[in-house]
Amino acid sequence: MAQKPGKVYLIGAGPGDPGLMTLKGLECLRQADVVVYDYLANPAFLEEAPAAEKVYVGKRKGLHHHPQEKINELLIEHARQGKVVARLKGGDPFVFGRGGEEALELVEAGIDFEVVPGVTSAVAAAAYAGIPMTHRDHTTTLGFITGHEDPAKKLSRLDWEKLSTSMGTLVFYMGMANLENICEQLVAHGRDPQTPVAVVRWATTPRQETLVGDLSNIVRKVRGEGFKPPALIFIGEVVGLRKSLRWFDNRPLFGKRVLVTRTAAQAGVFGSLLQAAGAEPIACPVIEIIPPKSYAELDAALQQLTEIDVLILTSVNAVEAFFQRLSTFGLDVRALFGTQVAVVGPKTAEALQQHGLRPDVMADDYRAEGVISKLKERGV
Ligand SMILES: C[S@@+](CC[C@H](N)C(=O)[O-])C[C@H]1O[C@@H](n2cnc3c(N)ncnc32)[C@H](O)[C@@H]1O
Repeated sequence: MAQKPGKVYLIGAGPGDPGLMTLKGLECLRQADVVVYDYLANPAFLEEAPAAEKVYVGKRKGLHHHPQEKINELLIEHARQGKVVARLKGGDPFVFGRGGEEALELVEAGIDFEVVPGVTSAVAAAAYAGIPMTHRDHTTTLGFITGHEDPAKKLSRLDWEKLSTSMGTLVFYMGMANLENICEQLVAHGRDPQTPVAVVRWATTPRQETLVGDLSNIVRKVRGEGFKPPALIFIGEVVGLRKSLRWFDNRPLFGKRVLVTRTAAQAGVFGSLLQAAGAEPIACPVIEIIPPKSYAELDAALQQLTEIDVLILTSVNAVEAFFQRLSTFGLDVRALFGTQVAVVGPKTAEALQQHGLRPDVMADDYRAEGVISKLKERGV
């Protein structure tokens, strides 16, 4: 039988916040037999393709794990074996991501491919730093530029004369090592030294940091703070809008890492609340809900529920465990006909209502003792 042809998806994984990958990107990733991923693609995405083989080909300045030719070969080799390959790249594959080079190699090798765009880091960093890259009162032009030119090149390919004054907002990718030269060239070619500059590192992640200055002092500030890549450099009047539009890194818990000790099953909701307040939740469950050593007592009670006057449920876990056990006897909520149900608080009540039952009694103070007082009030 002829082998099914392989395929390569060049997928933009976005800038870091896992919520910023497209639905199509996720869909392609989930189909993958092999995931080939980069330094800047959030590793959390690997969980979306649990059975796939994972190949890290991260590149960092001075630390080239895999030369580009090797990556190209890898993609072609796997696709030729009939595999679906997800090539996960930070940001967008076609913006300073060498996605164009990889796609050309695939064309040459006759491999089927698709390109799934991603949110490029400049767009995302601007949004998360509160810097609208264009604004009618400030600028209508915008340029994305590489700040990392090949050091072997004697002459810069950047036309500083035109760049400096022809565009309102300039965004440099990979420019940190070259920041001094960038600022000098822009000023030397006519840009006002007081032009605002923002440097944004690890944009959209809990590690995001932003430094603001102008063309005359940003180098000093970056050195003073020991500000490191990956970072983007925003240059232009729009940077000033951050003062009013900052929303991400000034949330009350931003920069805080919070251990969540709840059970793994319940950590998610709490984690989302923490995230919304800017914190980075770290799941560290110290509680595990396990079945009892013996169900004898519970089973005996379940078999004579009609004799039981009051059922007290003290937690969401208790609700789930109760109904799970009840169902093992082929029973459901109807078995509680005639029994009063008391709960400790609104969350337990909510869980109960998921099973179609309203509580008769709820504690005022959300404590087990409160349930007892309430029951006493009712003369139980
Ligand atoms: C090789 S380029 C890849 C760009 C990527 N294809 C994109 O569309 O964002 C790497 C550069 O992107 C920028 N970058 C990527 N992710 C970033 C992030 N989360 N925060 C700040 N800069 C980032 C940095 O300038 C970094 O040096």
